[in-house]
Amino acid sequence: MKIVLLPGDGIGPEVTQQARLCLELLSDRCGLNFVFEERSIGGIAIDRHGKPLPQATIGACVEADAILLGAVGGPAWDSAKLRPEMGLLELRAVLGLYANLRPARVIKGLEHLSPLRPEIAEGADVLVVRELTGGSYFGEKKLSDCVASDLCTYTRAEVERVAHVAFKAARGRSKRVTSVDKANVLATSKLWRRTVEDVARGYPDVALDHMYVDSAAMALVMHPRRFDVLLTENMFGDILSDEMSVIAGSIGLLASASIGDGGPGVFEPIHGSAPDIAGKDLANPCGAIASAAMLLEDGLGLTGEAAILRAALDDALRGTVLTADLGGDASCSAMGAEIRRLLDARLAARDAHVDLMSSNRGF
Ligand code: NAD
Ligand code: IPM
Ligand code: MN
Repeated sequence: MKIVLLPGDGIGPEVTQQARLCLELLSDRCGLNFVFEERSIGGIAIDRHGKPLPQATIGACVEADAILLGAVGGPAWDSAKLRPEMGLLELRAVLGLYANLRPARVIKGLEHLSPLRPEIAEGADVLVVRELTGGSYFGEKKLSDCVASDLCTYTRAEVERVAHVAFKAARGRSKRVTSVDKANVLATSKLWRRTVEDVARGYPDVALDHMYVDSAAMALVMHPRRFDVLLTENMFGDILSDEMSVIAGSIGLLASASIGDGGPGVFEPIHGSAPDIAGKDLANPCGAIASAAMLLEDGLGLTGEAAILRAALDDALRGTVLTADLGGDASCSAMGAEIRRLLDARLAARDAHVDLMSSNRGF
C-alpha cells in the first residue's frame, strides 16, 4: 500500500514525521508493507518548484492509496502572489474531496485538558462534516483597490452528496444531524437547508435539526453535548472546527479525513503550520497521529490497526509526557516516542493474547 506524505511547511514536517513513525511501526509489526513516498506541497513547493502543487505531487497523489498531509503556509509566503494555501485547495479539488470529517471528543477523565468547565466538556463527542470543494472558497474572485468579491455558490448536487456523508456517519453514532447555515440571510443557505431536508427523508432513523451559524458558534462551547454530527458548508466548517478544538483542549489534538467518491483520501490535522512554534520541536503531534488513525480506518479499511493506534494515543493523553499546549513540557518528538512506546506495548499484549489463544486451542 502506497502512502504519499506531504509534510508541507512550519510544524507540518515535525508532526508528520511522528505520524509516519507510528505507521511504520504498525506496518512492521502487522505485516502491512506500507511504502512511503514524500512529495512537496505549499510554500516549500513554491520555493523548490515554483508552484504550491507541482505536477509530480499530483501524479503521486492520484496513484496513492492514501495521503498524509502536515500543514501549509507561513509568513514567508504571506505577500506572495502564489500562496501555499492554493496548493491545498487545488489538491482537494483535483481529488474531488468534497467531504471533510473532523471529529472531537473529550476522553473520560481528561476533562481537565479543556479550558471549558468540566461539567460542560464532559462527554462531548462531535463530528463536523464540512463541505470542502464549494462555497466562497472556490467561487469567482475579484479584487481591485476599491472593491472585492468572493462568489459563494452551491448546487443542489453538491449539498446532497455531503449531506449523505453526514447522515451515513450519524447512523454509526448517536443518529443526530445538526445542519448549520445562515438561511435567515443567505440564498446559498436557503438551498442548503431545503436540500438537507430532502436528503433527510431517506434517513428516517436519523434526527435532523437546523441552527444558524452564529447561534451554533455559541452552543458549541456552551452545550457541546447537544451536538452529534454537525453538517455545514465550507467556510462555516473551517471556523467552527477550530472553535470545536477548544472542547477537546487543543487544536493540536484534532484530526481530519477529506474524502470523495473513491480514490485516495487526504488525512491531515486541522491545525495550520503554527509559525510561532515551528522548528522548535514543540508542536503537539496528536492531531497528525490521529489523522494517521483515520487514514488507516477510512483510507485503507484497517479498522483493527486504527483502533490500536487510537487507544495508544488515549493512553498517552492519560499520562504525563505531554506537549506544552496540553500543560506539559515534553517535546513533539518525545510525545511521539511515548505514543509509539504505548503502541508497542499494546501490540505486544495483543500478540501475547493471540499466542495464548492458539496454544490453548492446540492443548
Ligand atoms: P495555526 O493553526 O497554524 O496556529 C494557531 C495557534 O495554534 C498558534 O498559536 C499555534 O502555535 C497553535 N497550534 C497549531 N497547531 C498546533 C500544534 N500541533 N501543537 C501546538 N500548538 C499548535 O493557525 P494560523 O496561525 O492562523 O495559521 C498559520 C499558517 O497556517 C497560515 O499560513 C495559514 O494559512 C496556515 N494554515 C494551514 C492549514 C492547513 O494546512 N490545513 C490550516 C490552517 C492554517
Ligand atoms: C484548514 C485550513 C485551510 C482551509 C486553508 C489553509 C486553506 O484552514 O484546512 O482548515 O481553510 O480549508
Ligand atoms: Mn482551518
